[in-house]
Amino acid sequence: MREIVLSQKEIQEITKGLGEKLTERFKSASSAPVFVGVMKGALNFMMDLIKNVDVPMMTDYIQISSYEGTESTGIIHLKRDLTLDIKGKSVVIVEDIVDTGYSLHYLKEYLIEKYQPKEVIICCFIDKKCARKIDVDVDYVGYTIDKPAFLMGYGLDYNEFARNIDYVYIPPKEEIELYDKLSK
Ligand code: IMP
Ligand code: MG
Repeated sequence: MREIVLSQKEIQEITKGLGEKLTERFKSASSAPVFVGVMKGALNFMMDLIKNVDVPMMTDYIQISSYEGTESTGIIHLKRDLTLDIKGKSVVIVEDIVDTGYSLHYLKEYLIEKYQPKEVIICCFIDKKCARKIDVDVDYVGYTIDKPAFLMGYGLDYNEFARNIDYVYIPPKEEIELYDKLSK
């Protein structure tokens, strides 16, 4: 049985709340923020979040990877860079989940060094605080989970499976076994 962590309704409330906060933050800003979705995990969250942000804004995407199966490798690969020049702009990194912190730590440093943005703000859907190995300032958090469980659904995957599920859950081991079998 799947253990549900966040239902569709809870996700809607979270994305609405974060969207309102970000609207408030940028409503008197002199330049439009660029929301940068971290592929692929944050795509579902990004789509719901930006619908709730009511200011002129731009979007872009970046792709990195660090996970194999249910473990973070700690080694980050940049797989796809931005297409916009964000120099001098406010950037909001939109991420699905912070776990060890390595990915966001890397990404923030990378964007600052390469593009010299005005500021880099982090908005993360889920914070798995207890799994942190490197310190990273997360400015906006949707939900904090207090156990180091492996989560799936709503963009969160196991070897690319389960991103299509519309809620967040802890999978039973049979489900992981099924995906292992299907990927052979
Ligand atoms: P970190 O670098 O360890 O903080 O991991 C960040 C990335 O690993 C996230 O952007 C996710 O893509 C992935 N990740 C971390 N925890 C989970 C999980 O519980 N389920 C699925 N993916 C996860
Ligand atoms: Mg991610």
